[in-house]
Amino acid sequence: MNIISLNGITRSFTSGLGEKVTVLNSLNLDIEAGSFNVIRGESGSGKTTLLRILGMLDSKFSGHYIFGNHPVQNQPDWVLDELRSENIGFIFQEGRLFNHMKLMKNIILPLQLHEPMFNGRSAQKKIVDLARHFFKDKAKMMKVLDLLPSSASGGEKQRASIMRAIITRPCLILADEPTASLNGELKNSVVKHLHDLCIEGYTVIVVSHDSVFFSEGRQLELDKGRLTDLL
Ligand SMILES: Nc1ncnc2c1ncn2[C@@H]1O[C@H](COP(=O)(O)OP(=O)(O)OP(=O)(O)O)[C@@H](O)[C@H]1O
Ligand SMILES: [Mg+2]
Repeated sequence: MNIISLNGITRSFTSGLGEKVTVLNSLNLDIEAGSFNVIRGESGSGKTTLLRILGMLDSKFSGHYIFGNHPVQNQPDWVLDELRSENIGFIFQEGRLFNHMKLMKNIILPLQLHEPMFNGRSAQKKIVDLARHFFKDKAKMMKVLDLLPSSASGGEKQRASIMRAIITRPCLILADEPTASLNGELKNSVVKHLHDLCIEGYTVIVVSHDSVFFSEGRQLELDKGRLTDLL
């Protein structure tokens, strides 16, 4: 069963010089529910543009996008907001944490918005349980979660933004270069966690240049506005 079906998706931008630049050009893509998918492509090939459309953050495209049974194109913002908040966790390339909130508060936010019976203490427990996958030392982890983004390292912020995206257990996880600020063992723990979520039945789409993602799952390449399956 497909969770996503894109048909003839075209997205163009107007450059600073007033020229029309077509980034995605009649692109087609079917994504099977519960699959692990990696999208590669050169810098500027349109990976983030595609992920933003998939995440319903950009509706200025032409073509057909079906999510589950729902058509996405030409829907009002409130329909897209609802579909997105119930189903999609987005890990942004640049993190996008709220700078005035500590990392813990940033991660709790989606739970607060999501759960009508929100309970601060059980939410905190959920976060600590999840954070164990991403931090080796519990005392260090608690200190990091207590930092504002401005005082945290790039890798700490990246891990917080991954946790924020998956804390509500969305059925589709979209990850834009989720290992870019990490090294060695931390990279592997992010890869493993995303794979484990997929084994549990979640659908994962990762955009990455990082070869840690190249050995498992469906591999696609974005080039000249279209996707092709590799291997
Ligand atoms: N809002 C915008 N206005 C104008 N041009 C844009 C806009 N967003 C993206 N582009 C252009 O679309 C192209 C694709 O950008 P995109 O960010 O999708 O690339 P990418 O594959 O994610 O690159 P990277 O690997 O460097 O993150 C680029 O040439 C970019 O300049
Ligand atoms: Mg990008």
